[in-house]
Amino acid sequence: MLITLWLRLGAFLGKTLLWLLGIGLLGWALATAWFAWQHSGPVSDKEQIPPGEAAMTQDIIQTAIRIVDQHREGTRYLRDAHAKAHGCVMAQVQVPDDLPTPLRQGVFAEPGKVWQATMRLSNGNAYPQFDSLRDARGMAIKLLDVPGNQLLRDRQSQGEQDFVMFNHPNFFVSDVAEYRQNVAAQADGKKAMAFFPSLDPRSWQIRHLFIALETLSPAPDSPTQTTYFSVSPYKFGEANAKFRVAPDPDSCPSYTLPAQNQALPNFLRSALTQQLSTDRIPACFVLQIQRQDPSKYMPIEDTSIEWRESDAPFETVARITVPAQDFDTPKLNLACDNQSFNPWFGIEAHRPIGGINRLRKAVYEEVSDYRHRRNAEQ
Ligand code: HEM
Repeated sequence: MLITLWLRLGAFLGKTLLWLLGIGLLGWALATAWFAWQHSGPVSDKEQIPPGEAAMTQDIIQTAIRIVDQHREGTRYLRDAHAKAHGCVMAQVQVPDDLPTPLRQGVFAEPGKVWQATMRLSNGNAYPQFDSLRDARGMAIKLLDVPGNQLLRDRQSQGEQDFVMFNHPNFFVSDVAEYRQNVAAQADGKKAMAFFPSLDPRSWQIRHLFIALETLSPAPDSPTQTTYFSVSPYKFGEANAKFRVAPDPDSCPSYTLPAQNQALPNFLRSALTQQLSTDRIPACFVLQIQRQDPSKYMPIEDTSIEWRESDAPFETVARITVPAQDFDTPKLNLACDNQSFNPWFGIEAHRPIGGINRLRKAVYEEVSDYRHRRNAEQ
């Protein structure tokens, strides 16, 4: 009697487990199919500005300035993001002689052209911290003496073209509305709330939480040894494109960086100094673009979506050389801190597009002006 009961209970539990497994698998298959359907082309090749974006932008500016005030270092006001630099270095950006005609756009229009540039390498965090902590790493490049009208009316005499990137291909928010909610939660010290704005599971941003966790990655051995992505899209002549800068060691003399002491707070600066100033070995990169194919899922208005290389390959439009140099001096470091990079410092052929870039237009200028003003008052 007891044995029969025992066997029946076993059979019941076994069946229940099988049912649960089946339902789980079905749910997973449905969710995958729904996600694939939601994330399939075609997409628009034009910007689509949602209502209320301007008001949300003003709100974000106030939060960004609150963050700058929270994190000023001693008497100096730092950037709201990417506050800590590993160094600003001079670089040359050369357009290949054999660049195919469709890729000859904007600053890449003239094959063989060599642009002088400055490059700032940074950690992503809002305040300086040990390099060994998980973080995004930034690269900002400014081409100098660029002819033609600048996008911003008050920068006409600057003649610059900036490329502003970090070392992850997609962003942890899709658009301005989401950024506003996320950054406000972070500024209020409620980091956990940033991706779970309410008790309603439909508002939970679990995929975006994973992107944020992946973005905060362990440090590379050197700022010259990681790939930097524009994340958001830009015009590339008539086309839309994202860009990236990837290490290209084969174009430079072969070099092995001696192991750095990663327990030191600024070992990424030490790695850069070791290569460029002590060992006098240049660093090489390629600048590549990825053109939008609107028949594929390559949206303009959602920066959380990585444009897949299988949908559109990256194509090299320039080679970057960072020559051996002595960049780590008090004077150059202060100039580096006082420099401003902004995706909107540039020409029409490379106009930033999409919501996150429209937002950056207002925020970078306001935050940069604010920290320069406060520092000048010291
Ligand atoms: C597409 C994604 C983004 C990338 C790749 C990116 C990358 C960077 C990098 C590399 C810097 C440092 C530039 C330098 O070296 O001076 C920077 C600075 C900054 N970023 Fe972003 N960022 C992104 C999105 C945003 C967003 C959405 C905001 C806020 C709306 C923002 C606000 C800022 C601010 C305020 C600064 C400092 C500007 C200054 O004071 O000069 N960024 N960003």
